[in-house]
Amino acid sequence: MKAALLRLKDEALAKLEGAQTKEDLATLKSLYLGKKGELKKVLTSLGTIPPTERAALGKVANEVQDSLLDEIARKEQTIGEGLKAQALNTSIDTSVPGRSHRLGSVHPLVQTSEVIFDVLKKLGFCKAQGPEIEHDFYNFAALNMPKNHPARDMQDTFYITDDILLRTHTSSVQIRAMLSQKEPPLKVMSWGRVYRRDDDVTHSPMFNQIEGLYVDEHCSLADLKGTLSAFAAGVFSKDAKIRMRPSYFPFTEPSMEVDVSCFACAADLSCRLCKGSGWIEILGAGMVDPEVFIACGYDPERFRGFAFGMGVERIAMLRYGIPDIRLFYENDLRFLRQF
Ligand code: PHE
Repeated sequence: MKAALLRLKDEALAKLEGAQTKEDLATLKSLYLGKKGELKKVLTSLGTIPPTERAALGKVANEVQDSLLDEIARKEQTIGEGLKAQALNTSIDTSVPGRSHRLGSVHPLVQTSEVIFDVLKKLGFCKAQGPEIEHDFYNFAALNMPKNHPARDMQDTFYITDDILLRTHTSSVQIRAMLSQKEPPLKVMSWGRVYRRDDDVTHSPMFNQIEGLYVDEHCSLADLKGTLSAFAAGVFSKDAKIRMRPSYFPFTEPSMEVDVSCFACAADLSCRLCKGSGWIEILGAGMVDPEVFIACGYDPERFRGFAFGMGVERIAMLRYGIPDIRLFYENDLRFLRQF
């Protein structure tokens, strides 16, 4: 046993001699002196030894442990001094000021989305997300737009197969939300990228949408109007008003375009934003069509719902006075630094 202890000591000392770095030392320390280390293994077998010899062997074990600890401390010091000398010999000028990193800024589309989420969250809407590559059913068919329906023309998109496409709106997420929750009430806001065959200064083949859906037993057009008034006040200005104009969407009845009162002028004919009308179009909305409820397994006799959807780019362009939608996607720092 004594011989084993001494052999262990010699072996450990030889290895310590070769250690080059602090990491090497730490590894050796745990290998020999750690809780499951070699020395502990020998010490646990002390119990099998006659009591008369035990004390003497314990003493040897302690000596081995002490000499290893001494050697580790000595080696640590040598390695530390080596590092210090190395640092002094290299030509590092520690008085040179550091290189500063420019802080980035939150993209205007993200800033705008956050403002919208905040307002809708206070009105009780929870976030819901879905895939950008979507099945025809969720994007069109369940939204009362069967194959070959002329309303599909308004939202022509990119098809991967006859049935798989890039979603044209986040209404697809609302279908998914209704199908995954058996019974209303349901109050969700969906958001994300959507795709359409569109390309000019105010339209891009890819853009971002936020949509809201509320379904309950007692839900009326008045609730929609109240929600959108609070939305306009929160996103544009405290005394913003809204106006609803009849429109058409296959998935809502009645359907409407919603305008916000111009926040740049008081119906000034030279106003660039409202062109003198005093109103600016901001989103589409309506009461959920019963056909949509039927596709989602909700009883259309019992439940009513409203929905609205907007392009985040459009809202951001209005809030910041941005003239061209493409500026959002070019990553031009001169543009992005302004926000
Ligand atoms: N999904 C519609 C669009 O993208 C917007 C909308 C949503 C209209 C909900 C009415 C109700 O054009």
